[in-house]
Amino acid sequence: MSDLLLRRPPFEPYKTKVIERIPNPSREERERALEQAHYNLFNLRSDEVRIDLLTDSGTGAMSDRQWAAMMLGDESYAGSRNFAHFEETVRSLTGFPYIVPAHQGRAAENLLFSSLCRPGSIVPNNMHFDTTQAHVRHQGATPVNLAVPEAYDPTSDFPFKGNVDVAALEKLLSESGPEKVPLVMVTITNNTGGGQPVSFENFRDVARVAGAHHVPVYLDMCRWAENAALVREREPGMNARTIREIGRAFFDLAAGATMSAKKDGLVNIGGFVATRDEPLAERLKEALILYEGFPTYGGLARRDLEAISVGLIEATELDYLEHRIAQVRYLAGLLEELGVPFFHPVGGHGVYLDVRRFLPHLGDDDLPGQALAVELYREGGVRTVEVGALMFGSDPENPSRSLELVRLAIPRRVYSASHLAYVADVVGRVYARRATVRGLRMVYRPERLPHFTARFAPK
Ligand code: F0G
Repeated sequence: MSDLLLRRPPFEPYKTKVIERIPNPSREERERALEQAHYNLFNLRSDEVRIDLLTDSGTGAMSDRQWAAMMLGDESYAGSRNFAHFEETVRSLTGFPYIVPAHQGRAAENLLFSSLCRPGSIVPNNMHFDTTQAHVRHQGATPVNLAVPEAYDPTSDFPFKGNVDVAALEKLLSESGPEKVPLVMVTITNNTGGGQPVSFENFRDVARVAGAHHVPVYLDMCRWAENAALVREREPGMNARTIREIGRAFFDLAAGATMSAKKDGLVNIGGFVATRDEPLAERLKEALILYEGFPTYGGLARRDLEAISVGLIEATELDYLEHRIAQVRYLAGLLEELGVPFFHPVGGHGVYLDVRRFLPHLGDDDLPGQALAVELYREGGVRTVEVGALMFGSDPENPSRSLELVRLAIPRRVYSASHLAYVADVVGRVYARRATVRGLRMVYRPERLPHFTARFAPK
């Protein structure tokens, strides 16, 4: 994994057992689909999409072992043996004693934030993901992003752009204290800022500072195995450790975690909250019963829990992780050869195009990230997502802290190197004619999480 940009297609450490046909919509069909979708790619039907890089969440392929595990489903309402196995697996990976299942990451966020936050609370994070930010706000609390300054510079090669600015955290905690700050969150990897890792050294400092202020630290651990792989590669002294050991070193310093198993749990649905705090776990379970289901299934079929138990372990296997990260680098290497600007260094789960350098002729009010995502679909049926002003809103007080990116998220164990080469061709063709790309305007703006359901029109 040491070559930053690989020229050779990465070797898949698996072979194909089931296939799914890839659609091939014509140019006219794509044009019509865009109009019908109001230029919002979330509105496309999947059979209108040739290569789907919208998200790496819940879109991966399960292994034969996971499918076999699904057949072991014990669909008892209470006390299912699948829950016992799931609980034991999460405990053994994380060391957290109390495990509360949920149907996905944002359900886990809802449980945790509704139990810990009050109106007026402040929740610091390296960078909040969109649903995390929305859940904090939903409680009347304020999300604060405290990533290091390098995280906002797409050209810096700083190896740990997910890191927290510890001095800024110390300042915030000194000013606000545990009465106002119910928890500190750290997202591994930092999805919003390019899938960038958090170093162990930084996390240890975060835990020390938060501990001194008696504030618990929770991990948003969606992509914890990818974070561990990047730490293993980049952080001095970490290379001899296993993924599980590195992950455990992080968990040992945390009070708990929220997890979307749709990422590093290698499943299509599932998640959990884990904690060391027994009274909190009881409150989480009460909320769980209200919103999700009984504490031994948490809004999932019990067979789903069995698939998570297998997937969580598979996600820590080094050949799997090396291939995954090599795929991201392979795509980045092809784009680099075409001169396409992207966020550096490439992280764990996708390549993020740097929209301001890609489309310098468009201003922020042209919604350039969305315009680029639309153009990639128009050119070759490749579906991506804007991660910028539309997803997060711009910060008028601090414009230098706003990234405008288009994420090419790579689903786990789904696409081959030739699919990625096709994607690079499509991006390269749009880059070659970038001056022709026009901006968009929003014609319908929903109040919350606008990127999912907004409608647009070409300018
Ligand atoms: N936290 C992070 C860092 C995420 O990336 C996501 C989801 C969530 C929480 C919420 O999890 O979707 O299971 O409810 N990210 C997906 C994405 C949707 O496309 O990056 P969820």
